[in-house]
Amino acid sequence: MKKVLIISLSILLFSCNSEVKTENKEIPIREINAVMTDNDRKIDSLIALMSLEEKVAMLHGNSMFTSAGVERLGIPELKMADGPLGIREELHRDSWGPLGLTDDFATFFPAGGGLSATWNPELAKMYGVAIAQEARARNKDVLLAPAINIIRTPLGGRNFEYFSEDPYLCKTITAPYVTGVQSQDVAVCVKHFAVNNQETNRGTVDVLMDERTLREIYLPAFKASIEAGAYTVMGAYNKFRGDYLCENDYMLNGILKGEWGFKGIVISDWAAVHSSVKSLKNGLDVEMGSPLPFESFYLAKPLMDSIAAGKIEEKVIDEKVKRILRVMFAVKSIDPEGRVKGSINTVEHKDLVYKIASESVILLKNSENILPVQTSKIRSIAVIGDNAMRKHAAGGFGAGVKTKNEISPLQGLKNKLPAGVTIHYAQGYKENYTDADNKNSFGRSISNEADPGLVAEAIAAARKSDVAIIFAGSNRTVESEAADRVNIDLPFGQEELIRKVKEANPNTIVVIIAGAPFDLKEVQKYASALVWSWFNGNEAGNALADILLGNVNPSGKLPWTLPKNLMDSPAHATLSFPGAESVTYKEGIFVGYRWFDAKNIEPLYPFGYGLSYTSFDFSDLKTDKQNYGQEESIQVSFSIKNTGITDGKEVAQLYVSHPGSSVEKAAKELKAYKKVFVKSGATVNATIGLPIKELAYYNDIKKEWTVEPGVYTIKIGKSSREIVSEISIEIK
Ligand code: BGC
Repeated sequence: MKKVLIISLSILLFSCNSEVKTENKEIPIREINAVMTDNDRKIDSLIALMSLEEKVAMLHGNSMFTSAGVERLGIPELKMADGPLGIREELHRDSWGPLGLTDDFATFFPAGGGLSATWNPELAKMYGVAIAQEARARNKDVLLAPAINIIRTPLGGRNFEYFSEDPYLCKTITAPYVTGVQSQDVAVCVKHFAVNNQETNRGTVDVLMDERTLREIYLPAFKASIEAGAYTVMGAYNKFRGDYLCENDYMLNGILKGEWGFKGIVISDWAAVHSSVKSLKNGLDVEMGSPLPFESFYLAKPLMDSIAAGKIEEKVIDEKVKRILRVMFAVKSIDPEGRVKGSINTVEHKDLVYKIASESVILLKNSENILPVQTSKIRSIAVIGDNAMRKHAAGGFGAGVKTKNEISPLQGLKNKLPAGVTIHYAQGYKENYTDADNKNSFGRSISNEADPGLVAEAIAAARKSDVAIIFAGSNRTVESEAADRVNIDLPFGQEELIRKVKEANPNTIVVIIAGAPFDLKEVQKYASALVWSWFNGNEAGNALADILLGNVNPSGKLPWTLPKNLMDSPAHATLSFPGAESVTYKEGIFVGYRWFDAKNIEPLYPFGYGLSYTSFDFSDLKTDKQNYGQEESIQVSFSIKNTGITDGKEVAQLYVSHPGSSVEKAAKELKAYKKVFVKSGATVNATIGLPIKELAYYNDIKKEWTVEPGVYTIKIGKSSREIVSEISIEIK
């Protein structure tokens, strides 16, 4: 327990002072396990006092978001809450209906895409701390987040919740998030374990891939979360190699609890369980679900029947209860002395949301240097688009937040523009769903027809203004849990709107607000400037306005590839999405930019891409040595000069190639990165430590991670397609 206290204290200090520099200290698995197993003897004596009924009651939901405690022994219910974007409003105990309370508002935090687009692990830790403080203020024990599945296809309905197509970026955002949350006496529930990369047929589809792909692409972030001490993990809906993930012996017992030594709880996704004995034996610990009679859950009465029939031994149940109690002790829900009380809807959380949002916005194009908008030189701005007014907190089931004061882009501009600049607002397009074929599985068909009346109003607004800014993209209906999109077209006739507004006003800036790729081929031709923003929390509009007006210099980078065409993307090029009964990930390890590199396909904007209002020059790329042993770390150093007139942050991205490899490898893989602030005209010398073990590939014959000896190329770049310098080293 001592270790936990030390870690918590340093995080608390860190959260009070954003200037403090953190190193994401790796805590060895055995120490985390010691923390988790500290109370095992106490727990064993508690279990000895429990009846079988009491134990089984702890293994399944007794309300929508709790599992039972044992009151007479002072064991409370385990209280869980969605989710990744903020603490969900309170629901009825036995239905998905909201309770309609007035005291369950929460901060809306930027969605996963926004957080990862900051490429800033320190912000991920602060995000974790803040969202967990809100969970504590609402008296929760388990936060059903982070959602970390790899973004395999641009169509994925939950891409906005997830972090990246790249396992390294994903794991380096995940680990500090986990540490941050758990420093506040709240358990994370890392979801959805695993290979849950599509919503189509998610309840039944059997996901198939080779072992190397599983290990190198789909599991690293989960493994990193366990190494960071994650107390709980959520089993996914889908199957993997024939077995549902909530009863998958290989994944749960073999990898998670076996190889990785996970000592916490595997909680099912809601209604993702299909058996009593098999799921328990194969590694599930707690069954959660939809409002059936809770007694009919597989791990309720049917489990009691199986025990009575001698199909499963009580000691298996004891082991599950032990895991639950471990987490309860770790988050101090039993023995709550000194437990974090939490805080919610605070100014600090709002400020953090602003900070994350302002580091997440990506400048995709600014060829005419129209941005930042020179407010001293203009008298009017046309603000166009439904997304200028739309709020994005609600929607997407577990990813919805009931919040107050979400700042829309229009409101943000009103807040930030000087009094002399007039805004002409026009809606431009509106949500429009039809019954055509263009259906997503959520049952809504997205229309691509422009609305002539709204387009005409937008043209008029653009004509009478010095600059036009169109806020387009998607919303929380177009992108949602339970439905993948059917194409990447910009919805609701936005392309036509943008073209016509540009004809009416040559100074047209387009801002896309979305969580996943859209087809911007045409739009990026018309737009004088193109900006990407996200479902970015309460302060989204203020942060965006500050970027557009130049109060903040953009520093976000794409966490995935923005393709020209859907069919350029690996899952689609290999015709291996969505599958019916099963889906084979035919692209193997070549997910995201790895595919575009291998096939020499030019994306519209590559992974890692993002411009700034200033420019940076890299020089003096060096390594501390030329030859390295397997246990060593490469110290990669370089200088970054800010050659423009604006202070700014650049993300130095370090990719590694191994051209002489005996196995097929990606042309380059992200292996480290660092976000560096450089004042205008200044030069910063930066060093990144790159452990040699990061360069391992998974040898599926030997079933181990292997670093092949040989010559490797270290590439430093501003994006995966803009490598500015490279150097070779040798590994013995
Ligand atoms: C989602 C989970 C969520 C759970 C509870 C499921 O449908 O997949 O991410 O935590 O519901 O709302």
